[in-house]
Amino acid sequence: MGILQTLFHAEEDIQGSKFRAIFIGLFVAFGGILFGYDTGTISGVLAMDYVKEHFTSRGHFTANETSLITAILSAGTFCGAMLAPLASDTIGRRLGLIISTLIFAVGVVLQIAATGQNLLIVGRVIAGAGVGVLSAIVPLYQSEASPKWIRGAVVSCYQWAITIGLLLAACVNQGTHARNDSGSYRIPIALQLLWAIIMFIGMVILPESPRFYIMKEKVPEARKALSKLRGLPEEHEVIQNELEEISANYNYERSFGSTSIWDCFKPANHQLKRIFIGIAIQALQQLTGINFIFYYGTQFFQNSGIKDPFIIQLIMNVVNVVMTVPGIALVEIAGRRNLLLWGAIGMCVSELIVAAVGTALPDSFSANKTLIAFSCTFIASFAATWGPLAWVVVGEIFPLRVRAKSVAVCAASNWLFNFAIAYATPYLVDSEHANLQSKVFFIWGGCTFLCFLFVYFFIYETKGLTLEQIDELFEVCPSARYSKNFVPSSGPAVDVSNISDSDKA
Ligand code: GLC
Repeated sequence: MGILQTLFHAEEDIQGSKFRAIFIGLFVAFGGILFGYDTGTISGVLAMDYVKEHFTSRGHFTANETSLITAILSAGTFCGAMLAPLASDTIGRRLGLIISTLIFAVGVVLQIAATGQNLLIVGRVIAGAGVGVLSAIVPLYQSEASPKWIRGAVVSCYQWAITIGLLLAACVNQGTHARNDSGSYRIPIALQLLWAIIMFIGMVILPESPRFYIMKEKVPEARKALSKLRGLPEEHEVIQNELEEISANYNYERSFGSTSIWDCFKPANHQLKRIFIGIAIQALQQLTGINFIFYYGTQFFQNSGIKDPFIIQLIMNVVNVVMTVPGIALVEIAGRRNLLLWGAIGMCVSELIVAAVGTALPDSFSANKTLIAFSCTFIASFAATWGPLAWVVVGEIFPLRVRAKSVAVCAASNWLFNFAIAYATPYLVDSEHANLQSKVFFIWGGCTFLCFLFVYFFIYETKGLTLEQIDELFEVCPSARYSKNFVPSSGPAVDVSNISDSDKA
Protein backbone atom coordinates (compact mmCIF):
# COMPACT_ATOMS: atom_id res chain seq x y z
CA MET A 1 0.00 0.00 0.00
CA GLY A 2 1.50 3.35 -1.04
CA ILE A 3 2.14 6.22 1.33
CA LEU A 4 -0.38 8.50 -0.38
CA GLN A 5 -2.94 5.77 -0.52
CA THR A 6 -2.50 5.16 3.20
CA LEU A 7 -2.76 8.81 4.13
CA PHE A 8 -5.39 10.04 1.72
CA HIS A 9 -7.59 7.19 0.59
CA ALA A 10 -7.62 4.82 3.49
CA GLU A 11 -11.09 3.83 4.56
CA GLU A 12 -12.44 7.32 4.05
CA ASP A 13 -16.05 6.30 3.92
CA ILE A 14 -15.96 4.07 6.98
CA GLN A 15 -13.65 6.19 9.15
CA GLY A 16 -15.10 9.62 8.42
CA SER A 17 -13.53 12.71 6.89
CA LYS A 18 -9.82 12.14 6.31
CA PHE A 19 -9.07 15.87 6.00
CA ARG A 20 -10.74 16.67 9.29
CA ALA A 21 -8.77 13.89 11.02
CA ILE A 22 -5.51 15.10 9.51
CA PHE A 23 -6.25 18.73 10.32
CA ILE A 24 -7.19 18.10 13.97
CA GLY A 25 -4.20 15.82 14.53
CA LEU A 26 -1.83 18.33 12.97
CA PHE A 27 -3.30 21.19 14.92
CA VAL A 28 -2.85 19.58 18.33
CA ALA A 29 0.68 18.61 17.31
CA PHE A 30 1.37 22.34 17.44
CA GLY A 31 1.96 21.82 21.18
CA GLY A 32 5.29 20.29 20.11
CA ILE A 33 6.44 23.73 18.89
CA LEU A 34 6.11 25.07 22.45
CA PHE A 35 8.05 22.05 23.75
CA GLY A 36 10.85 22.17 21.16
CA TYR A 37 11.24 25.94 21.04
CA ASP A 38 11.32 26.29 24.82
CA THR A 39 13.94 23.57 25.33
CA GLY A 40 15.97 24.83 22.35
CA THR A 41 16.08 28.54 23.04
CA ILE A 42 17.85 28.73 26.40
CA SER A 43 21.37 27.59 25.39
CA GLY A 44 21.47 30.38 22.78
CA VAL A 45 20.11 32.96 25.23
CA LEU A 46 22.76 32.14 27.83
CA ALA A 47 25.48 32.48 25.18
CA MET A 48 24.43 36.06 24.29
CA ASP A 49 26.92 38.78 25.23
CA TYR A 50 24.19 41.18 26.39
CA VAL A 51 22.71 38.54 28.71
CA LYS A 52 26.14 37.60 30.10
CA GLU A 53 26.91 41.25 30.84
CA HIS A 54 23.58 42.11 32.47
CA PHE A 55 22.66 38.85 34.22
CA THR A 56 26.02 38.15 35.88
CA SER A 57 28.44 40.23 37.90
CA ARG A 58 31.56 38.81 36.18
CA GLY A 59 30.47 38.94 32.54
CA HIS A 60 29.97 35.20 32.16
CA PHE A 61 27.88 32.38 33.60
CA THR A 62 29.64 29.84 35.79
CA ALA A 63 29.19 26.15 34.93
CA ASN A 64 26.85 25.81 37.92
CA GLU A 65 24.67 28.72 36.81
CA THR A 66 24.48 27.37 33.25
CA SER A 67 23.58 23.90 34.49
CA LEU A 68 20.94 25.29 36.85
CA ILE A 69 19.25 27.61 34.34
CA THR A 70 19.31 24.97 31.57
CA ALA A 71 18.23 21.98 33.65
CA ILE A 72 15.65 23.80 35.81
CA LEU A 73 13.19 23.67 32.91
CA SER A 74 13.27 19.87 33.05
CA ALA A 75 12.53 20.03 36.79
CA GLY A 76 9.44 22.14 36.03
CA THR A 77 8.42 19.87 33.16
CA PHE A 78 8.82 16.76 35.32
CA CYS A 79 6.44 18.19 37.95
CA GLY A 80 4.07 19.43 35.23
CA ALA A 81 3.93 15.97 33.61
CA MET A 82 3.21 14.31 36.97
CA LEU A 83 0.38 16.77 37.62
CA ALA A 84 -1.11 16.43 34.13
CA PRO A 85 -3.56 13.59 34.98
CA LEU A 86 -5.10 15.75 37.69
CA ALA A 87 -6.22 18.02 34.89
CA SER A 88 -6.84 15.55 32.07
CA ASP A 89 -8.86 13.07 34.16
CA THR A 90 -10.94 15.67 36.02
CA ILE A 91 -11.53 18.71 33.80
CA GLY A 92 -10.67 16.90 30.57
CA ARG A 93 -7.89 16.65 28.00
CA ARG A 94 -8.99 19.78 26.15
CA LEU A 95 -9.31 22.09 29.17
CA GLY A 96 -6.07 20.61 30.53
CA LEU A 97 -4.32 21.76 27.33
CA ILE A 98 -5.92 25.20 27.53
CA ILE A 99 -4.75 25.67 31.12
CA SER A 100 -1.25 24.42 30.33
CA THR A 101 -0.85 27.09 27.63
CA LEU A 102 -1.93 29.74 30.16
CA ILE A 103 0.63 28.51 32.72
CA PHE A 104 3.24 28.48 29.98
CA ALA A 105 2.34 32.08 28.99
CA VAL A 106 2.72 33.29 32.60
CA GLY A 107 6.21 31.72 32.73
CA VAL A 108 7.14 33.38 29.44
CA VAL A 109 5.96 36.83 30.59
CA LEU A 110 8.08 36.52 33.75
CA GLN A 111 11.12 35.62 31.63
CA ILE A 112 10.53 38.61 29.36
CA ALA A 113 10.34 40.86 32.43
CA ALA A 114 13.50 39.37 33.95
CA THR A 115 16.54 41.58 34.28
CA GLY A 116 18.36 39.18 36.59
CA GLN A 117 18.82 35.46 37.12
CA ASN A 118 16.18 34.95 39.82
CA LEU A 119 13.14 35.98 37.81
CA LEU A 120 14.54 34.16 34.77
CA ILE A 121 14.74 30.94 36.78
CA VAL A 122 11.24 31.37 38.28
CA GLY A 123 9.86 32.05 34.79
CA ARG A 124 11.57 28.97 33.39
CA VAL A 125 10.19 26.72 36.13
CA ILE A 126 6.64 27.99 35.51
CA ALA A 127 6.91 27.78 31.71
CA GLY A 128 8.44 24.32 32.21
CA ALA A 129 5.45 23.20 34.26
CA GLY A 130 3.19 24.30 31.40
CA VAL A 131 5.28 22.38 28.85
CA GLY A 132 5.28 19.32 31.14
CA VAL A 133 1.48 19.22 31.39
CA LEU A 134 1.25 19.74 27.65
CA SER A 135 3.81 17.02 26.86
CA ALA A 136 1.69 14.48 28.75
CA ILE A 137 -1.68 15.51 27.30
CA VAL A 138 -0.89 16.13 23.61
CA PRO A 139 -0.05 12.50 22.67
CA LEU A 140 -2.96 11.33 24.84
CA TYR A 141 -5.47 13.60 23.13
CA GLN A 142 -4.08 12.81 19.68
CA SER A 143 -4.26 9.04 20.26
CA GLU A 144 -7.80 9.25 21.58
CA ALA A 145 -9.13 11.66 18.97
CA SER A 146 -7.61 10.12 15.81
CA PRO A 147 -9.06 7.28 13.79
CA LYS A 148 -6.84 4.18 13.94
CA TRP A 149 -5.61 4.35 10.32
CA ILE A 150 -3.79 7.61 10.95
CA ARG A 151 -3.15 7.56 14.71
CA GLY A 152 0.57 6.73 14.48
CA ALA A 153 1.20 9.38 11.83
CA VAL A 154 -0.73 12.02 13.80
CA VAL A 155 1.21 11.41 17.02
CA SER A 156 4.43 11.43 14.97
CA CYS A 157 3.52 14.95 13.85
CA TYR A 158 3.85 15.98 17.48
CA GLN A 159 7.51 14.96 17.35
CA TRP A 160 7.85 16.76 14.02
CA ALA A 161 6.56 19.93 15.68
CA ILE A 162 9.12 19.46 18.48
CA THR A 163 11.92 19.32 15.90
CA ILE A 164 10.55 22.41 14.12
CA GLY A 165 10.44 24.20 17.49
CA LEU A 166 14.10 23.32 18.10
CA LEU A 167 15.07 24.56 14.64
CA LEU A 168 13.08 27.79 15.00
CA ALA A 169 14.81 28.47 18.31
CA ALA A 170 18.24 27.95 16.72
CA CYS A 171 17.35 30.32 13.83
CA VAL A 172 15.81 33.06 16.00
CA ASN A 173 18.75 32.99 18.44
CA GLN A 174 21.11 33.20 15.51
CA GLY A 175 19.22 36.25 14.25
CA THR A 176 19.13 38.23 17.53
CA HIS A 177 22.30 37.26 19.42
CA ALA A 178 24.36 40.06 17.86
CA ARG A 179 22.00 42.83 19.10
CA ASN A 180 23.41 44.89 21.91
CA ASP A 181 20.16 45.50 23.74
CA SER A 182 17.58 43.57 25.73
CA GLY A 183 15.86 42.60 22.48
CA SER A 184 18.61 40.01 22.02
CA TYR A 185 16.93 37.77 24.62
CA ARG A 186 13.47 39.32 24.91
CA ILE A 187 12.58 38.75 21.24
CA PRO A 188 13.34 35.00 21.19
CA ILE A 189 11.64 34.50 24.56
CA ALA A 190 8.60 36.64 23.67
CA LEU A 191 8.00 34.80 20.38
CA GLN A 192 6.82 31.88 22.47
CA LEU A 193 3.70 33.86 23.37
CA LEU A 194 2.66 33.60 19.74
CA TRP A 195 2.85 29.78 19.86
CA ALA A 196 0.86 29.83 23.13
CA ILE A 197 -1.88 32.05 21.64
CA ILE A 198 -2.27 29.81 18.55
CA MET A 199 -2.47 26.69 20.72
CA PHE A 200 -4.95 28.34 23.07
CA ILE A 201 -7.33 29.47 20.30
CA GLY A 202 -7.16 26.08 18.58
CA MET A 203 -7.99 24.16 21.75
CA VAL A 204 -10.94 26.45 22.48
CA ILE A 205 -12.38 25.45 19.09
CA LEU A 206 -11.56 21.70 19.04
CA PRO A 207 -13.85 19.13 20.69
CA GLU A 208 -13.02 17.16 23.85
CA SER A 209 -11.82 13.54 23.54
CA PRO A 210 -14.88 11.24 23.33
CA ARG A 211 -13.05 8.73 25.53
CA PHE A 212 -12.92 11.31 28.33
CA TYR A 213 -16.70 11.77 28.12
CA ILE A 214 -17.21 8.01 28.25
CA MET A 215 -15.11 7.91 31.43
CA LYS A 216 -17.43 10.54 32.88
CA GLU A 217 -20.47 8.58 31.66
CA LYS A 218 -21.57 11.44 29.40
CA VAL A 219 -22.61 9.40 26.39
CA PRO A 220 -24.50 12.13 24.43
CA GLU A 221 -21.48 14.46 24.75
CA ALA A 222 -19.17 11.64 23.68
CA ARG A 223 -21.34 11.01 20.61
CA LYS A 224 -21.33 14.69 19.71
CA ALA A 225 -17.54 14.96 20.12
CA LEU A 226 -16.95 11.84 18.03
CA SER A 227 -19.23 13.08 15.28
CA LYS A 228 -17.34 16.39 15.19
CA LEU A 229 -13.98 14.61 15.11
CA ARG A 230 -15.00 12.22 12.33
CA GLY A 231 -17.11 14.69 10.36
CA LEU A 232 -20.05 12.26 10.31
CA PRO A 233 -23.65 12.68 11.60
CA GLU A 234 -24.22 11.51 15.19
CA GLU A 235 -26.55 8.72 14.08
CA HIS A 236 -24.03 7.32 11.56
CA GLU A 237 -23.24 3.63 11.98
CA VAL A 238 -19.47 4.33 12.31
CA ILE A 239 -20.06 6.68 15.25
CA GLN A 240 -22.41 4.19 16.87
CA ASN A 241 -19.97 1.28 16.48
CA GLU A 242 -16.96 3.22 17.72
CA LEU A 243 -18.86 4.49 20.77
CA GLU A 244 -20.02 0.99 21.61
CA GLU A 245 -16.49 -0.34 21.38
CA ILE A 246 -15.11 2.42 23.63
CA SER A 247 -17.92 1.99 26.18
CA ALA A 248 -17.71 -1.81 26.29
CA ASN A 249 -13.97 -1.67 26.81
CA TYR A 250 -14.23 0.98 29.49
CA ASN A 251 -16.98 -0.90 31.36
CA TYR A 252 -14.81 -3.99 31.36
CA GLU A 253 -11.86 -2.00 32.73
CA ARG A 254 -14.05 -0.39 35.37
CA SER A 255 -14.73 -3.84 36.76
CA PHE A 256 -11.17 -3.63 38.15
CA GLY A 257 -12.30 -0.76 40.48
CA SER A 258 -11.40 2.93 40.82
CA THR A 259 -7.91 4.19 40.03
CA SER A 260 -5.05 6.08 41.60
CA ILE A 261 -1.54 6.71 40.34
CA TRP A 262 -0.45 3.47 42.04
CA ASP A 263 -2.71 1.50 39.73
CA CYS A 264 -0.27 2.32 36.96
CA PHE A 265 2.14 -0.06 38.70
CA LYS A 266 -0.20 -2.98 39.44
CA PRO A 267 0.10 -6.35 37.68
CA ALA A 268 -3.64 -6.67 36.86
CA ASN A 269 -4.51 -6.25 33.18
CA HIS A 270 -0.78 -6.51 32.28
CA GLN A 271 -0.49 -2.93 33.48
CA LEU A 272 2.89 -3.46 35.15
CA LYS A 273 4.31 -4.70 31.88
CA ARG A 274 2.75 -1.80 29.97
CA ILE A 275 4.09 0.84 32.33
CA PHE A 276 7.53 -0.78 32.22
CA ILE A 277 7.44 -0.57 28.41
CA GLY A 278 6.30 3.08 28.50
CA ILE A 279 8.85 4.23 31.08
CA ALA A 280 11.68 2.29 29.43
CA ILE A 281 10.98 3.50 25.88
CA GLN A 282 10.99 7.13 27.06
CA ALA A 283 14.14 6.68 29.16
CA LEU A 284 15.91 4.88 26.32
CA GLN A 285 14.86 7.60 23.87
CA GLN A 286 16.81 10.06 26.03
CA LEU A 287 19.71 7.65 26.55
CA THR A 288 20.29 7.53 22.78
CA GLY A 289 22.15 10.78 23.54
CA ILE A 290 19.98 12.88 21.21
CA ASN A 291 19.93 15.89 23.54
CA PHE A 292 23.70 15.71 23.91
CA ILE A 293 23.70 17.06 20.34
CA PHE A 294 20.89 19.57 20.89
CA TYR A 295 22.08 20.95 24.22
CA TYR A 296 25.86 20.71 23.91
CA GLY A 297 26.49 20.01 20.20
CA THR A 298 27.98 23.43 19.46
CA GLN A 299 30.52 23.04 22.25
CA PHE A 300 31.28 19.42 21.27
CA PHE A 301 31.93 20.29 17.61
CA GLN A 302 34.00 23.28 18.66
CA ASN A 303 36.16 21.14 20.97
CA SER A 304 36.58 18.60 18.18
CA GLY A 305 38.33 21.31 16.17
CA ILE A 306 35.47 22.01 13.75
CA LYS A 307 35.61 25.62 12.50
CA ASP A 308 31.95 26.53 12.14
CA PRO A 309 30.17 24.76 15.00
CA PHE A 310 27.06 27.01 14.81
CA ILE A 311 26.46 26.11 11.17
CA ILE A 312 26.98 22.40 11.94
CA GLN A 313 24.46 22.69 14.76
CA LEU A 314 21.98 24.30 12.37
CA ILE A 315 22.56 21.45 9.89
CA MET A 316 21.84 18.90 12.66
CA ASN A 317 18.56 20.68 13.37
CA VAL A 318 17.60 20.69 9.70
CA VAL A 319 18.39 16.95 9.38
CA ASN A 320 16.23 16.37 12.46
CA VAL A 321 13.25 18.20 10.95
CA VAL A 322 13.59 16.75 7.44
CA MET A 323 14.15 13.14 8.52
CA THR A 324 11.10 13.11 10.81
CA VAL A 325 8.95 13.26 7.65
CA PRO A 326 9.81 9.75 6.37
CA GLY A 327 9.12 8.56 9.93
CA ILE A 328 5.60 10.01 9.79
CA ALA A 329 4.98 8.46 6.39
CA LEU A 330 6.41 5.05 7.30
CA VAL A 331 4.83 4.48 10.70
CA GLU A 332 1.54 3.21 9.23
CA ILE A 333 3.33 1.18 6.54
CA ALA A 334 6.44 -0.38 8.06
CA GLY A 335 4.89 -0.54 11.55
CA ARG A 336 6.18 0.57 14.95
CA ARG A 337 8.29 -2.47 15.77
CA ASN A 338 10.27 -2.61 12.51
CA LEU A 339 11.02 1.10 12.54
CA LEU A 340 12.21 0.99 16.14
CA LEU A 341 14.49 -1.97 15.42
CA TRP A 342 16.01 -0.38 12.29
CA GLY A 343 16.38 2.95 14.05
CA ALA A 344 18.30 1.35 16.92
CA ILE A 345 20.68 -0.32 14.46
CA GLY A 346 21.23 2.93 12.52
CA MET A 347 21.91 4.94 15.68
CA CYS A 348 24.19 2.28 17.19
CA VAL A 349 26.40 1.99 14.09
CA SER A 350 26.59 5.78 13.61
CA GLU A 351 27.45 6.50 17.23
CA LEU A 352 30.11 3.81 17.48
CA ILE A 353 31.76 5.20 14.32
CA VAL A 354 31.70 8.75 15.78
CA ALA A 355 33.21 7.43 19.02
CA ALA A 356 35.92 5.35 17.30
CA VAL A 357 36.94 7.98 14.74
CA GLY A 358 36.86 10.87 17.24
CA THR A 359 38.96 8.89 19.72
CA ALA A 360 41.51 7.45 17.26
CA LEU A 361 42.04 10.52 15.07
CA PRO A 362 41.36 13.68 17.11
CA ASP A 363 41.69 17.02 15.27
CA SER A 364 42.28 15.61 11.81
CA PHE A 365 40.41 17.19 8.88
CA SER A 366 39.09 13.93 7.42
CA ALA A 367 38.19 12.64 10.89
CA ASN A 368 36.10 15.78 11.43
CA LYS A 369 34.25 15.22 8.18
CA THR A 370 33.50 11.63 9.23
CA LEU A 371 32.40 12.86 12.65
CA ILE A 372 29.94 15.33 11.11
CA ALA A 373 28.66 12.81 8.54
CA PHE A 374 27.95 10.11 11.13
CA SER A 375 26.48 12.58 13.62
CA CYS A 376 24.05 13.39 10.78
CA THR A 377 23.22 9.71 10.17
CA PHE A 378 22.68 9.31 13.92
CA ILE A 379 20.24 12.24 13.98
CA ALA A 380 18.54 10.96 10.82
CA SER A 381 18.09 7.45 12.30
CA PHE A 382 16.66 8.95 15.49
CA ALA A 383 14.39 11.42 13.72
CA ALA A 384 12.77 8.81 11.46
CA THR A 385 12.20 6.27 14.22
CA TRP A 386 12.75 6.68 17.97
CA GLY A 387 11.93 10.39 18.00
CA PRO A 388 8.29 10.03 16.96
CA LEU A 389 7.71 6.39 17.91
CA ALA A 390 8.50 6.68 21.61
CA TRP A 391 5.54 9.11 21.79
CA VAL A 392 3.34 6.96 19.55
CA VAL A 393 3.88 3.87 21.70
CA VAL A 394 3.07 5.55 25.03
CA GLY A 395 -0.06 7.10 23.53
CA GLU A 396 -1.54 3.74 22.57
CA ILE A 397 -0.50 0.92 24.92
CA PHE A 398 -2.51 1.82 28.05
CA PRO A 399 -6.10 0.96 28.91
CA LEU A 400 -8.46 3.96 29.17
CA ARG A 401 -8.92 3.58 32.92
CA VAL A 402 -5.29 4.47 33.65
CA ARG A 403 -4.27 5.95 30.30
CA ALA A 404 -3.91 9.60 31.34
CA LYS A 405 -1.97 8.69 34.48
CA SER A 406 0.27 6.23 32.69
CA VAL A 407 1.10 8.57 29.80
CA ALA A 408 1.97 11.20 32.41
CA VAL A 409 4.31 8.82 34.26
CA CYS A 410 6.03 8.00 30.94
CA ALA A 411 6.38 11.67 29.99
CA ALA A 412 7.84 12.28 33.45
CA SER A 413 10.36 9.50 32.78
CA ASN A 414 11.37 11.33 29.58
CA TRP A 415 11.90 14.58 31.51
CA LEU A 416 13.76 12.89 34.36
CA PHE A 417 16.31 11.35 32.00
CA ASN A 418 16.36 14.55 29.97
CA PHE A 419 17.28 16.40 33.18
CA ALA A 420 19.89 13.80 34.20
CA ILE A 421 21.61 13.98 30.82
CA ALA A 422 21.44 17.78 30.61
CA TYR A 423 22.97 17.99 34.06
CA ALA A 424 25.61 15.25 33.82
CA THR A 425 26.88 15.84 30.28
CA PRO A 426 29.06 18.89 30.98
CA TYR A 427 30.87 16.86 33.63
CA LEU A 428 31.33 13.91 31.25
CA VAL A 429 32.97 15.95 28.49
CA ASP A 430 34.58 18.79 30.46
CA SER A 431 38.39 18.72 30.39
CA GLU A 432 38.55 19.32 34.15
CA HIS A 433 36.32 16.32 34.88
CA ALA A 434 35.91 13.01 33.00
CA ASN A 435 37.13 14.60 29.71
CA LEU A 436 35.48 11.89 27.59
CA GLN A 437 34.90 14.07 24.49
CA SER A 438 34.07 11.71 21.55
CA LYS A 439 34.35 8.69 23.85
CA VAL A 440 30.99 9.72 25.33
CA PHE A 441 29.46 8.25 22.14
CA PHE A 442 30.56 4.79 23.30
CA ILE A 443 28.07 5.25 26.16
CA TRP A 444 25.24 6.43 23.86
CA GLY A 445 26.11 3.71 21.32
CA GLY A 446 25.91 1.07 24.08
CA CYS A 447 22.51 2.41 25.10
CA THR A 448 21.18 2.16 21.53
CA PHE A 449 22.20 -1.51 21.53
CA LEU A 450 19.98 -1.85 24.63
CA CYS A 451 17.25 -0.05 22.63
CA PHE A 452 17.43 -2.84 20.03
CA LEU A 453 17.18 -5.62 22.63
CA PHE A 454 14.34 -3.84 24.40
CA VAL A 455 12.25 -3.53 21.22
CA TYR A 456 13.03 -7.09 20.18
CA PHE A 457 11.74 -8.53 23.45
CA PHE A 458 9.01 -6.12 24.52
CA ILE A 459 7.38 -4.15 21.70
CA TYR A 460 4.29 -5.54 19.97
CA GLU A 461 3.20 -4.40 16.55
CA THR A 462 0.15 -2.19 17.01
CA LYS A 463 -0.21 -0.73 13.51
CA GLY A 464 -3.81 -0.64 12.26
CA LEU A 465 -5.40 -1.62 15.61
CA THR A 466 -7.89 0.49 17.55
CA LEU A 467 -6.87 1.44 21.10
CA GLU A 468 -9.40 -1.11 22.34
CA GLN A 469 -7.89 -3.85 20.14
CA ILE A 470 -4.41 -3.00 21.44
CA ASP A 471 -5.80 -3.51 24.91
CA GLU A 472 -6.96 -6.93 23.83
CA LEU A 473 -3.57 -7.65 22.30
CA PHE A 474 -1.98 -7.25 25.74
CA GLU A 475 -4.79 -9.17 27.41
CA VAL A 476 -5.24 -12.26 25.32
CA CYS A 477 -2.09 -12.52 23.39
CA PRO A 478 0.84 -11.39 25.52
CA SER A 479 3.38 -13.32 23.47
CA ALA A 480 2.25 -12.04 20.06
CA ARG A 481 4.67 -9.51 18.64
CA TYR A 482 3.09 -9.03 15.22
CA SER A 483 -0.41 -7.87 14.46
CA LYS A 484 -0.54 -10.49 11.71
CA ASN A 485 -0.64 -13.17 14.42
CA PHE A 486 -3.36 -11.37 16.27
CA VAL A 487 -7.05 -11.54 15.36
CA PRO A 488 -9.06 -9.12 17.52
CA SER A 489 -12.50 -10.28 18.58
CA SER A 490 -14.02 -6.80 18.41
CA GLY A 491 -14.18 -4.01 15.85
CA PRO A 492 -13.14 -4.12 12.23
CA ALA A 493 -10.59 -6.75 11.22
CA VAL A 494 -6.88 -5.98 11.12
CA ASP A 495 -5.44 -5.23 7.67
CA VAL A 496 -3.97 -8.53 6.47
CA SER A 497 -3.17 -7.43 2.93
CA ASN A 498 0.57 -7.73 3.47
CA ILE A 499 0.49 -11.21 4.95
CA SER A 500 1.71 -14.08 2.81
CA ASP A 501 -0.69 -16.90 1.93
CA SER A 502 1.17 -19.39 4.10
CA ASP A 503 0.76 -17.04 7.09
CA LYS A 504 -2.93 -16.65 6.37
CA ALA A 505 -3.34 -20.43 6.28
C1 GLC B 1 12.24 13.92 21.36
C2 GLC B 1 12.82 13.98 22.74
C3 GLC B 1 13.33 15.35 23.04
C4 GLC B 1 14.34 15.76 21.99
C5 GLC B 1 13.71 15.70 20.62
C6 GLC B 1 14.72 15.98 19.53
O1 GLC B 1 11.05 14.62 21.33
O2 GLC B 1 11.85 13.59 23.69
O3 GLC B 1 13.94 15.35 24.30
O4 GLC B 1 14.83 17.06 22.23
O5 GLC B 1 13.16 14.42 20.40
O6 GLC B 1 14.13 15.92 18.26
